[in-house]
Parts: sequence; structure tokens; C-alpha cells
Amino acid sequence: MVNPGFKMMDSLIVTTFLVTAVQGHMQLVSPAPFNATNNPHRTTTLGDPYLQYPYDCCGPYDKWEYPCRGYIDLLGTPDGEPTATWEAGSTQTWSIAGIGNHFGGSCQVGFSTDKGDTFKVATSYEGNCPRRYDGNEAPGQEFNFTVPADIEPGVHVFAWIWYNREQEFNMNCAAVRIADNSAYGISPRHTHHGAPKRELLSARSETVAWLDRPEMLVADDGNGCLTPHPTAELKYPNPGPDVVSGDGVYPLVLPSGNCAGVGHQAYDGSTGEDGHGVPH
Ligand SMILES: *[C@@H]1O[C@H](CO)[C@@H](O)[C@H](O)[C@H]1NC(C)=O
Ligand SMILES: *[C@@H]1O[C@H](CO)[C@@H](O)[C@H](O)[C@H]1NC(C)=O
Repeated sequence: MVNPGFKMMDSLIVTTFLVTAVQGHMQLVSPAPFNATNNPHRTTTLGDPYLQYPYDCCGPYDKWEYPCRGYIDLLGTPDGEPTATWEAGSTQTWSIAGIGNHFGGSCQVGFSTDKGDTFKVATSYEGNCPRRYDGNEAPGQEFNFTVPADIEPGVHVFAWIWYNREQEFNMNCAAVRIADNSAYGISPRHTHHGAPKRELLSARSETVAWLDRPEMLVADDGNGCLTPHPTAELKYPNPGPDVVSGDGVYPLVLPSGNCAGVGHQAYDGSTGEDGHGVPH
């Protein structure tokens, strides 16, 4: 005979577990990600309601595919039209919103210029990303960064990856058009003799070439690399040249385990295993 007391305890534990398992609650808003409700190029009636949840959320069979929640194939289709145009080398703003900021974390933004095979870091935000705001969803989750000056023009994939102190991994992606740098202009030195010459007048010089930048960190997704939990925020082993320091409320700690391999998602959604190697 089943003891009713145990049954109730079991369901309490299960409920608590499900609640904690789906806590990642922020998503990229601008630039509008693939299949987001605010993406003007979305061709399906419904937008993806899960963009603010971590990749291992929402039950054993709802595991989201790395990269970009499985939406990378939308690049080059009507759904994947760019939602922002940014000049290489310009300062731009990205923003996130959601119903739970987890009192911070660490984020990276970057780009894939090879259709999702590799994602390289533009800027690393170590701690206080999202901004804590005492855990409230105050407006103002806007972050500035510089688009690498030497990224080639064209439509590329912008990515935002967030780790909170619950070892939750979320990644949203958006198609953006990188435009030629308008710092190119007509050089006065060339206007007197012959045809005006288009010349680079001013642009940020990059200390690390775009193609030599590190890849964005992928952890907490079953690949053997785990971010700190729960008393520290992530310090990136390879943050790249553009790093924004947080507020120092939590110590910054490097991830543990095998973090040398990047970009892999080792768990298999069909088996119901989560990102930490733990069956749900
Ligand atoms: C967007 O998400 C909705 C809701 O999950 C889904 O029905 C639709 O097929 C998705 N659209 C695309 C283009 O993947
Ligand atoms: C971002 O840049 C804009 C324009 O320079 C500036 O007004 C704003 O304060 C910056 N925001 C942050 C959070 O640094």
C-alpha cells in the first residue's frame, strides 16, 4: 500500500524541481531574435514562447538544439531577414527582457560569420548581466558593445549567451546585417588629382583580428563544462579583447570540467537527460 504522506511529499519534490528547472527567464529583445514574437519577419502566427527559458527546460522532451534553439536554418529565409543593420566598428545596443533576471549572471555577445558553425566573441560581460536590480525586472537591460571593425559586411548571426548562478544556459540568435563602415569617406588628399578615392578615414583598430577572436563559451549543456554554482558568477576563460566588468557583488570564478571543446551540445533531448548529465 502506498503511504499517502509519501505521495504528497513526492509530488511536492517534483513540483519544486520543475519550478527550479525552468527558471531561466530572460530573452534577447533587440535585435529581435529568430521566431520571437517581436520579430517583424516571422511568417508563422505564433512566436516561440520559450525563448526566455534555458536550453534544458520545460520537460524531458523539450530540449532545445544548439545553436540558436534550432533556428539557424532560418538564416537566408524570409523568417531570417535581418532585424538590425549595424556598421562594422560602430557602438550598438542590445537588450534583453523577461520575467526573472536571476539576480545577474554573466553574458557574452558575438557573431557567427559562417552560418552557425562557429560563434566568436564580441564582448564579454563578467557579472551583473542581466543587471540585478534587486531581482526585479526594472527596465534598462540595455548593453552597449562595439561591433568588431574588421567583421566582413553581410548578413550574419548575432548571438547572446547567458549563464546564471543556477548553471542554466540560454542562447538566442538574431540575423543582423553588418554594413560597410561609414568611416570610409572621400579623402581630401585625393580630391585634387584624378578621381576621388574612397579611403578609410577613421575606424577603431582591432587588437585581435575578428577571425582570431575566441569562440563564445558553451557550458552547462552536457558537454562536460560547468559554470560556477551558486555563490559565484562566471569568469570567462577566453573573454576576448572587449570585457565589461560587473559590480563585484559575487566573486568571478572560471568554469570547471572540460571546457576546451566548444560549441557542442552533448545531451540528447530524446533521452530526457538534462544539461548536467542528470536524467529528469
Ligand atoms: C515559431 O514558434 C512557434 C511556436 O512554437 C512554432 O509553431 C513555429 O513553427 C515556429 N516558427 C518557425 C519558423 O520555426
Ligand atoms: C550606451 O551608449 C549611449 C550612447 O552613447 C549612452 O547614452 C548610454 O548611457 C550607454 N549605456 C550604457 C549602459 O552604457
